[in-house]
Amino acid sequence: MSEAAAPERLSFTRDELLASGRFDAPLIAGGVRCHGGFQADGSYRSPRAVHRAPAIAGWQARLARDGHPLLEIERALMPPQYPNVAQSTLLLEHGVRDPIVRTLTIISIVEGFGAIIRDVKIPDLAALVVEPISGTALAHLGQGLFEAHARDESGFKDEGGHKQMWEAARDLALEKPRIPGDVLMRMMGRNSRGRRPERPFPQLDETLERMLALMAQVLVVEVFAEGTFAWGIELLSNPSVSAAPEAAGNMVRYVRADEKPHVEYLRTALSEVRARTLRTVDGRMIAGREVVDGLLHRILREIIRNRPRDQREDIRESLIEAMQVTANPKALLEAFDALESRWTPPDHTGFEPARAA
Ligand SMILES: [Fe+2]
Ligand SMILES: [Fe+2]
Repeated sequence: MSEAAAPERLSFTRDELLASGRFDAPLIAGGVRCHGGFQADGSYRSPRAVHRAPAIAGWQARLARDGHPLLEIERALMPPQYPNVAQSTLLLEHGVRDPIVRTLTIISIVEGFGAIIRDVKIPDLAALVVEPISGTALAHLGQGLFEAHARDESGFKDEGGHKQMWEAARDLALEKPRIPGDVLMRMMGRNSRGRRPERPFPQLDETLERMLALMAQVLVVEVFAEGTFAWGIELLSNPSVSAAPEAAGNMVRYVRADEKPHVEYLRTALSEVRARTLRTVDGRMIAGREVVDGLLHRILREIIRNRPRDQREDIRESLIEAMQVTANPKALLEAFDALESRWTPPDHTGFEPARAA
């Protein structure tokens, strides 16, 4: 059998979507064998991509052939990373490492959380979607797409994933720093506040609504992660603050490459729903577009409002504490704050309900 699937193929088995093929050399990160690997020319190849990549391309091509757009989340909605590259560089140059160690550790933990996608309950989509769904990303969510995504994020069996790769990048660049003991605890404290589960579309089958809401949420997180990757690559590749500029920067580049299929399958499947009609529990119908846009609008509005504050709260206190070891903490904090990125959330998410008319 040839390694690559024919481009016109739209149906795949679970095993195919989880297949990585052969690598010439494995990826070892911090002594942990990770997913993905290298080809003979030294280029990195993401895991589970042999069929998954052409499959997603095929589903996207089909959507376009049928005259439906692929939904897009505007980059302008992405809040800046805090602390930004200039602020992070300033801290490291002054020997203030804890806040950066904390930020990198939070990123690795968030990556590991990505594995929850495999626990998402998938309803009987063929019954709940009016139009046929065979040969779509939607039909393959439980056929390997969610599982591949989960494995990419948190690893699988004895193979590391993004969690371990970010830890390795941190440990390479900052030479196995001491990890603050309260990182996870503080994150949990923040996440348990004021997030009440809501049902914006109670007329939908609850399992369907929950699945679509989670997919929309994860898509937004994945798209916004681009800013985190750019930050990580620039900071950890800087020889003036990184002990392993090449290896640490590359590690983040590999993670970034692996994220592409996540963004692409999620926006493809959501676009497929958007192009279809959903049955409600009371025997009526609702345009998929109204549901998908409604979910994305709510999530984007929330996250652009809260994320800058959440990121600040995650590290601000420990930041000021960590600065106390320097000769002039007050001056350092002033210089740090002067470098802060100015950002005002855009007025529109691009998924306003009015557009769904
Ligand atoms: Fe990831
Ligand atoms: Fe991801």
